[in-house]
Amino acid sequence: MADGPTGAVLALLGVFSVYAASGSRPVVEKETGGEAEPWDGAVFRPPSALGAVGMTRSPRTQRPGREEAGDLPVLLWWSPGLFPHFPGDSERIECARGACVASRNRRALRDSRTRALLFYGTDFRASDAPLPRLAHQSWALLHEESPLNNFLLSHGPGIRLFNLTSTFSRHSDYPLSLQWLPGTAYLRRPVPPLQERAEWRRRGYAPLLYLQSHCDVPADRDRYVRELMRHIPVDSYGKCLQNRELPTARLQDTATATTEDPELLAFLSRYKFHLALENAICNDYMTEKLWRPMHLGAVPVYRGSPSVRDWMPNNHSIILIDDFESPQKLAEFIDFLDKNDEEYMKYLAYKQPGGITNQFLLDSLKQREWGLNDPLLPNYLNGFECFVCDHELARLDAEKAHAASPGDSPIPEPHIAQPSHMDCPMPTPGFGNVEEIPENDSWKEMWLQDYWQGLDQGEALTAMIHNNETQQRKFWDYLHEVFMKRQHL
Ligand SMILES: *[C@@H]1O[C@H](CO)[C@@H](O)[C@H](O)[C@H]1NC(C)=O
Ligand SMILES: *[C@@H]1O[C@H](CO)[C@@H](O)[C@H](O)[C@H]1NC(C)=O
Ligand SMILES: *[C@@H]1O[C@H](CO)[C@@H](O)[C@H](O)[C@H]1NC(C)=O
Ligand SMILES: *[C@@H]1O[C@H](CO)[C@@H](O)[C@H](O)[C@H]1NC(C)=O
Repeated sequence: MADGPTGAVLALLGVFSVYAASGSRPVVEKETGGEAEPWDGAVFRPPSALGAVGMTRSPRTQRPGREEAGDLPVLLWWSPGLFPHFPGDSERIECARGACVASRNRRALRDSRTRALLFYGTDFRASDAPLPRLAHQSWALLHEESPLNNFLLSHGPGIRLFNLTSTFSRHSDYPLSLQWLPGTAYLRRPVPPLQERAEWRRRGYAPLLYLQSHCDVPADRDRYVRELMRHIPVDSYGKCLQNRELPTARLQDTATATTEDPELLAFLSRYKFHLALENAICNDYMTEKLWRPMHLGAVPVYRGSPSVRDWMPNNHSIILIDDFESPQKLAEFIDFLDKNDEEYMKYLAYKQPGGITNQFLLDSLKQREWGLNDPLLPNYLNGFECFVCDHELARLDAEKAHAASPGDSPIPEPHIAQPSHMDCPMPTPGFGNVEEIPENDSWKEMWLQDYWQGLDQGEALTAMIHNNETQQRKFWDYLHEVFMKRQHL
């Protein structure tokens, strides 16, 4: 008891993260550029793999007469793996409003110049949070991935810990919703001749492709696909529900054949329909699973972002699984399109000149300031860093103005992240009702628990930040109980 509740809660949160890390499932999905989900992760390298590449600005670009680096606001990357500069631990960056110093040296935490802490959602753990929290520091979250890596962020108490966000949500401060779509030209790539695909069908190919190697995910997609397979042929490659082998050893080897591999893409484009189910269901969370089939001239049969319609090139571009009352009804519709070329081709009309009619999509592509593999634009990691730098420079200016003239310039309002920045409801079964699924089902054991633990951790951390002893005691008891249960497993 010498520790008191705070120490004990911290210790238990630490125990928790050890448990999470030693579990049998991958805690980090894409850390190594797509190894955990080999067929899906590699088209555009996630930022953790960009490492040294970003548009780092040279420290020698200082203009005469500017402040020395010693006075600049410091942005401290608290997440170790993501620092987008090389070599060294700190670098001066030039942004629209002025300069900042980006650093990953944790010794800068207590420095009065350190104005913002930058976190990568996948790595964020309650046990590693820099406490006590300092009032003058903003917390900035970059999390382009789904909650699969960290459900803490999908709950109010977790997301509200942050001031600035950059997530897949259009509502975040620096949105990355189109992080997997390079541009309209990518969508306009011509459709391969239908006769070729008809020929593959005659040779025994199914109308539908499923290519998935990451099987146990919050969206529980395999449960749906397994059911659909009872009503229509699906060729399933990859580790999940596999019923066919890719044709060559080279394609089977995910180390040699990444998803941008031309031979693999040519193979995938033999299929008219691609099952495209995201690993988690969140508003605006859309990945290459959606855009790649469209690039290849196939029709995605999609389940993922409930707001996906807002982003489509026109209102007849994809088939939404949840528009159908049952897998059987969906199978009947796909079968109908498979036999009716004219109706099928309507789904690809957006590839015609002028076919992309969605102004929101066109505007969003035009307005984003980062690029994907575009040497002329910053990647979104550097872009986010500058966004935070500019925000902090503006906040400093507002604070100075207030100090100089409190009557004319009010104190800047706090800026706090909202649940809409990471809008992922509680996971539900891919097919059927949660009550009908046995308690020892791996999805139920894994993801429902994870979801609620995310809430507990967010609440515990919030309580610690506010130093609320009553709440801390409540969570200590709760965590102790869970811990004892696990010891007995
Ligand atoms: C799709 O867009 C077309 C042309 O803008 C319009 O005529 C049609 O009603 C729309 N269909 C739906 C289902 O919204
Ligand atoms: C940052 O967010 C916290 C809530 O998590 C809030 O208390 C604080 O005032 C905010 N700081 C700024 C600078 O907006
Ligand atoms: C789940 O429990 C049922 C009945 O209690 C048992 O038959 C089944 O093998 C169990 N499944 C797993 C994956 O443990
Ligand atoms: C501490 O938490 C408890 C339980 O959630 C709450 O009722 C109480 O108002 C909080 N106290 C303070 C000072 O925030």
